[in-house]
Amino acid sequence: MALRTLDDFNLKNKNILIRVDMNVPIHNGQVTDSTRLSRAVPTILEVLEKGGKPILLSHFGRPTRGFDLTMSTQQAVTALSNRLKKRVHFASSCIGETAQLAVNTLPEGDVLLLENTRFHQGEKKNDPEFAAELAKLGDIFVSDTFSTAHRAHASVEALARIMPSCAGRLMEEEISRLENVLSSPKKPVMAVVGGAKVSSKLLLLENLISPMDKIVIGGGMANTFLAAKGYNIGQSLCEHEMQDTARSIMENAKKMNCEIILPIDIVVAKEFAANTNCETLPADACPADSMILDAGSQTIKLIHEHLKHTKTVIWNGPLGAFEVPPFNKATDAAAKYVAELTQSGKILSVAGGGDTVSALNGSGSADKFTYISTAGGAFLEWLEGKTLPGVAVLTS
Ligand code: 3PG
Repeated sequence: MALRTLDDFNLKNKNILIRVDMNVPIHNGQVTDSTRLSRAVPTILEVLEKGGKPILLSHFGRPTRGFDLTMSTQQAVTALSNRLKKRVHFASSCIGETAQLAVNTLPEGDVLLLENTRFHQGEKKNDPEFAAELAKLGDIFVSDTFSTAHRAHASVEALARIMPSCAGRLMEEEISRLENVLSSPKKPVMAVVGGAKVSSKLLLLENLISPMDKIVIGGGMANTFLAAKGYNIGQSLCEHEMQDTARSIMENAKKMNCEIILPIDIVVAKEFAANTNCETLPADACPADSMILDAGSQTIKLIHEHLKHTKTVIWNGPLGAFEVPPFNKATDAAAKYVAELTQSGKILSVAGGGDTVSALNGSGSADKFTYISTAGGAFLEWLEGKTLPGVAVLTS
């Protein structure tokens, strides 16, 4: 795929609008995982080095009714400035006079971050008029947000159509690294798919059956599959209406020789709280008053055994309720083993998705994977083979 890149433009003395993804986890006003900020740094620094003025655009969260302080991109300013080691200014709107004044007065060598693009209705509608307002602020548009490339939104798609535009370095890296590892992966290939919802990953699961040799299903999603097998799952998170779909996925997988690996033992508790009383039971024995919160030690052994005979692993979604200890154990153990096998050259490993990256960072294994994508939904749609609007618009 031929993308237009920063090499195709002279950036000197130009205002460079850069679409980044500052949609990072924030708790009590503090950025708790700054992976996406760090990954945005190379493009911003390159623009500065080449004499351009970086003007950053991003969404944050999913606001529905205009301005919402809890979703202001301003919350990312300090963390971004620390990563860049540059001064980051903030404009309280991404269009109009406020934004224009901030652009005009931006000191050379500094960076400007504009307010959340999703505070404007035009963003999600891919509105050309809203895109034209954004375009007034810059000479060249650089899209560095693979993680938002599945959204046909104004600051991702329309803007790239109406201005001279190209991919940033992170966008280039994401696509080339994913293509390298996954376009003709070394077999056997195993997917690890977790998280809460079957419904949101349904197409992914169906489309993964053919290219994958094995799929480990974990997290809340596994509960729907256990329920579909007729197991008791007590009070566990489960999409009961998806049980037929889960059954049909298991049947199709069997027909196509793709092995589905579900938990064989489970960690259950009566409440979802840190360090609460919990016990490990066989997968079909969750008591009526308890919930499944992690996979048990036998399941971890089973996953390790399968990993030993795998050459490529694709991971999206945690295997348990990893945010709350001790329910991070299965995710941590599998992540550490994937990291070890990767480091000893036995497998290639790729992971993507906000929760996944945060879980892998928590276990100290993220930097030992072959590649970590900043993308969640976009990574999944890319895996499904869909054309991402935010990428297509950057091809020559
Ligand atoms: C993400 O977190 O996956 C991206 O920032 C896209 O966010 P969205 O799912 O709200 O569009």
